[in-house]
Amino acid sequence: MKINTRGKNITIIGGSGGMGQVFGKYFKKHGYNVTLYARNENNLREVAEKLDVKYEVELKSSVINADIVMISVPIHSTEEMIKKVAPLMKQDSLLFDITSIKEPICRLLSTMSEKYPINCLSLHPMFGPGISNMKNLIIILAFIVFNTTTAFYIPKGTMHGPVIWKKFEL
Ligand SMILES: NC(=O)c1ccc[n+]([C@@H]2O[C@H](COP(=O)([O-])OP(=O)(O)OC[C@H]3O[C@@H](n4cnc5c(N)ncnc54)[C@H](OP(=O)(O)O)[C@@H]3O)[C@@H](O)[C@H]2O)c1
Repeated sequence: MKINTRGKNITIIGGSGGMGQVFGKYFKKHGYNVTLYARNENNLREVAEKLDVKYEVELKSSVINADIVMISVPIHSTEEMIKKVAPLMKQDSLLFDITSIKEPICRLLSTMSEKYPINCLSLHPMFGPGISNMKNLIIILAFIVFNTTTAFYIPKGTMHGPVIWKKFEL
């Protein structure tokens, strides 16, 4: 399947961090308009210049025009950030996280997708910021539909034929 990524706006919350940079680089390479958000402006500017992408220090301005928002803040701030960002997002946009705990986050995203007109997805990359590129690396996806979450495990080396890994009721 080919996805037209040209002109799509993606905002990475926590974009100056290790994982934010990995995904920022990836999305930039694949034609998205990338905006990074974080609190420390000096770090943020430095990373944005390195990746040749935009940055924004005001949360609302950073997400209001985004087609996709990725949450990449530390685990302990993820729930709070999802609750702040979801009501600011435009209709039919996509909100996803990559945090390393999944059950409470999937539960929260399910509530957000019911409460606001947005789509939600939860990912778990099975790699850290030290990678040179994402080729052949594994990401677990959890599709959030209100009350049910299905997680897919993408077998190494392929983006086709995901295998159902776990289905659980929220
Ligand atoms: N590292 C890994 O190996 C790995 C693997 C899989 C998944 N993950 C997940 O990826 C996420 C990010 O991890 P990381 O290793 O990239 O962390 P990190 O390097 O510490 O980066 C965290 C980012 O979030 C920002 N931030 C921190 N607290 C914030 C807050 N309260 N509000 C807004 N921004 C905040 C930081 O910038 P400011 O402090 O300037 O705001 C920074 O840009 C985590 O949820 C983690 O579980 C990590």
